[in-house]
Amino acid sequence: MPFDSLSAFLDALRKKGELQVIDAAVDPKLEIAEITDRVVKAGGPALLFTNVHGSQFPVVTNVFGTQARTAMAFDAANLNEVADRLRKLFDISALMPSEDTKSILPFGGALKSLGSLAPLANAIPQTVNSGSCQDVVIENPDLSKLPVLTTWPLDGGPFITLPLVVTRDPRNRRLNIGMYRMQVYNERETGMHWQRHKQGRAHADAWGDKIPVAVAIGADPTITYAATAPLPPIVDEYAFAGLLRGKPVKLVRCKTVDLKVPADAEFVLEGYVDNTDLRTEGPFGDHTGVYSLADLYPTFHVQCITHRKNPVYAATLVGKPPMEDAWLGKATERIFLPLLQMVLPEVVDMNLPVEGGFHNLAIVSIKKKYPGHAKKVMNALWGLGHMMMLTRTLVIVDADIDVQDVRSVAWFTLNNLSPEKDVVMMPGPVDDLDHGSYSVAYGTKIGIDATRKTAAEGYTREWPPDIDMDTTTRRLVNERWKEYGIDLSEKSVHSDNWSGQGLDALEKLLKQ
Ligand SMILES: Cc1cc2nc3c(=O)[nH]c(=O)nc-3n(C[C@H](O)[C@H](O)[C@H](O)COP(=O)(O)O)c2cc1C
Repeated sequence: MPFDSLSAFLDALRKKGELQVIDAAVDPKLEIAEITDRVVKAGGPALLFTNVHGSQFPVVTNVFGTQARTAMAFDAANLNEVADRLRKLFDISALMPSEDTKSILPFGGALKSLGSLAPLANAIPQTVNSGSCQDVVIENPDLSKLPVLTTWPLDGGPFITLPLVVTRDPRNRRLNIGMYRMQVYNERETGMHWQRHKQGRAHADAWGDKIPVAVAIGADPTITYAATAPLPPIVDEYAFAGLLRGKPVKLVRCKTVDLKVPADAEFVLEGYVDNTDLRTEGPFGDHTGVYSLADLYPTFHVQCITHRKNPVYAATLVGKPPMEDAWLGKATERIFLPLLQMVLPEVVDMNLPVEGGFHNLAIVSIKKKYPGHAKKVMNALWGLGHMMMLTRTLVIVDADIDVQDVRSVAWFTLNNLSPEKDVVMMPGPVDDLDHGSYSVAYGTKIGIDATRKTAAEGYTREWPPDIDMDTTTRRLVNERWKEYGIDLSEKSVHSDNWSGQGLDALEKLLKQ
């Protein structure tokens, strides 16, 4: 069953031994961050700090810190299972008339498959009259009561790091939820760090000077994920979360602004962003592993805070990878693959390595069919929405290369490259956080075509065949393996020999 609130998810984590409660007194300034950093990097549990200096509210971090917990948030065993759910849902071939029905009934196939469209109903959020996020209403808000974390020594101040920022497009009333960090300036004011390509920023531009905003902190984990997902403007994050979790999300109307928030969110901040009130925001220790520099961003004025009776304040720590957001990013990699394949069916798989901070490197395998195919895919990826268009390095490999195995990718790419012909330099927009670029938000991206070259692409030589043992010999050796008596157990191999990769590979071979 999907979880209706963060608290419900935390209960489930506690039962599974995936939540560690820390009753020792801790400081929200740096101390919680340092503890969290160590635990995230060790692959440890979610952390619930119950005794936080200066606040009555507990803080939870590292909720999404492992693949297992992130998948559990979607009520799935792993992230591929979540992607498969979407793949089934968007399998438009189910809408085509099938061979046996089309002669009898026009659109017979479509009618036949209507049943399979039922899950789409989960995309329609349910607006309810009351929700636990409004158990307590504070009309005289004071942000200093919240245990907002300062995460790194040079940070400009405390930052709300897991906010679900809700805005509405004034032109068509569509809602958007985006995760944009918020630096707390004082009791009632914060920064609003929506970057130039983000939907919240587009809404703000459409409103003009003053834009109503609600911020939920701590919600059903699928909504939290949806706020980070690179969805096109026409897709409502609440609808997407409903599809992902297989149950409509429940929303309530805010008390002071015409917006809707998750009914069972832990905290909600209501107010407006003043586009004319630009202040210095940052620096902030960011997910690139360096500080993003101070810059001007508009100010959020909080006019009302509502919360559950016993709310938990949700926070995350970003910094040198891997961090908790690695698994939010990996969820996007898996969940968006089937969507990407609808537009680019030649794409077999993609890997956004954690070390690349998600916008620095995408490795994509394709079924190459024609000359220049890899370059066509590069152009298509750079032409897509805000995540892919900012990808600094694109590596395109052939379908038989496992993009999740970066060693194979390195071998294949480094082996096949003719830099003059295979490397594309593409000027264009780059991520606001891309400090490698010589100017802000505009620079150059690189595409590497590592696919096997063909004569039609001007390759004048014979392409060398890959080395692979023939199946007969493999089978023979498999069958006789025990006879040879070779000991390759953990104790007899050197641990410095490719970090045990050889043993894994051997195991795979023996299963063939
Ligand atoms: C932990 C975390 C923090 C983020 N902080 C910011 C931020 O401060 N500013 C920003 O523009 N995007 C930030 N992002 C990325 C956006 O949430 C992401 O691009 C999302 O798709 C934006 O939604 P939108 O497309 O509706 O604008 C963050 C993502 C994560 C996971």
